[in-house]
Amino acid sequence: MAEQSRNVQGGSRTARHGANRRQFLAAGGAVAVSILEPSLIFGTQANEKVRLGLIGCGNRGRWIARLFRDHGGYVVSAVHDYFPSRAKAVGGEFAITEDRCYSGLLGYRRMLDAGGIDAVVIESPPYFHPEQAVAAVEAGVHVFLAKPVAVDVMGCQTIQTAGEKATAKKLVFLVDFQTRTSPLYQEAVRRVREGDIGTIVSGEAVYYCGPTWVVPEDFDPKNPEDLLRAWGAFRVLSGDVITEQNIHALDVATWFLDAAPLRAYGMGGRKGKTGPGDCWDHFSVIFTFPNDVLVTFASKQYGAGYDDIGCRIFGTEGTADTHYFGTVSIHGKKPFPGGSTGSLYADGAKANIKTFYDAIKNGDFSNPTVAPSVRSNLTTILGRMAAYQKSEVTWDQMLASQERWEFDVTGLKE
Ligand SMILES: NC(=O)c1ccc[n+]([C@@H]2O[C@H](COP(=O)([O-])OP(=O)(O)OC[C@H]3O[C@@H](n4cnc5c(N)ncnc54)[C@H](O)[C@@H]3O)[C@@H](O)[C@H]2O)c1
Repeated sequence: MAEQSRNVQGGSRTARHGANRRQFLAAGGAVAVSILEPSLIFGTQANEKVRLGLIGCGNRGRWIARLFRDHGGYVVSAVHDYFPSRAKAVGGEFAITEDRCYSGLLGYRRMLDAGGIDAVVIESPPYFHPEQAVAAVEAGVHVFLAKPVAVDVMGCQTIQTAGEKATAKKLVFLVDFQTRTSPLYQEAVRRVREGDIGTIVSGEAVYYCGPTWVVPEDFDPKNPEDLLRAWGAFRVLSGDVITEQNIHALDVATWFLDAAPLRAYGMGGRKGKTGPGDCWDHFSVIFTFPNDVLVTFASKQYGAGYDDIGCRIFGTEGTADTHYFGTVSIHGKKPFPGGSTGSLYADGAKANIKTFYDAIKNGDFSNPTVAPSVRSNLTTILGRMAAYQKSEVTWDQMLASQERWEFDVTGLKE
């Protein structure tokens, strides 16, 4: 399974009114944060460390913060999680004083406002990614962002704009997809684009895994903090599995084809999954890409016995065959033996951490990961929309829908 297993803890919480994300985005996201030129907050001396603010201190947040530390060029200097205990637990590991451990929905803004960080690492639930990335760019800090970039169409467009603004403000904005860092994947994509498998006719993208989220028995659906803890089980916070997890497979498909789909027809449902939550557990979608290239996509998140994150591209003279946790190869008239992806889960994150650092140091603000990440994110949303509607949806219809999802934050702490 690509994602680390998530054990969601329950518990009782105090309630107050929280902020509305849309109001914040409508206000431009620039609430009270210090606007500083990056050159003033991060110099060019080779031995200067990049000071990080971590947003989201869960499984991946803690795990990736250690990788940043191990790189040697970074120091984790502030943390934010909605839950104070989680922020303090990770803060403690990195010797961060309690006054730099922020909590609540708006803790990331207090962290940005306090200053003393050059970059944020966003590892929160996907629903919050756009508002947190926008605030970071407005505050003049670099952004390292977990996939998916957003849960809805408007969120994707917000990230696209934030990425462009980052470039204009001389900031680095990197989205962390591991496959794109792999020399094997890169070589397979290069060869396919050079015609080694002939004319591309069709493709296949799959994401098969077992249950990922374990929601505790004392989960209370009326308690918004329980919803936050169990975010992966709920569409509005995660984007559903096609966007939150299956994006890894569809990102590779859009990379090979270097295009967005024109339309999709889909179905799916929730049958093998039990317990709270409204995310589906299987999707079947057929995407039509330019030149009538059809990509069949299937995913499941239940059961046992077969896991794969795969993408195959079929041409008139060969087949490219890729598996995140397996091998990458090309078979046919111009074969590419490729090889094993090894420990891509960790190696890919490490490669992105290095690229992020080098880009900051070298002043490379071209931010090439933003556009393809938005494209593959929107591809998952197109598939999701078609599947929910059980009908065909075009790319243009999806964009025109201006889809925006709203999580009711009433009862959460600011
Ligand atoms: N291979 C990969 O690229 C990969 C693997 C795992 C997770 N991820 C991504 O990383 C992100 C985090 O996933 P995870 O597995 O660490 O989940 P997690 O639930 O373990 O951690 C998320 C943390 O965010 C906190 N949180 C909730 N609301 C918040 C808010 N408004 N602001 C700040 N923090 C908030 C939660 O309390 C929790 O500690 C997701 O976007 C996920 O898709 C990517």
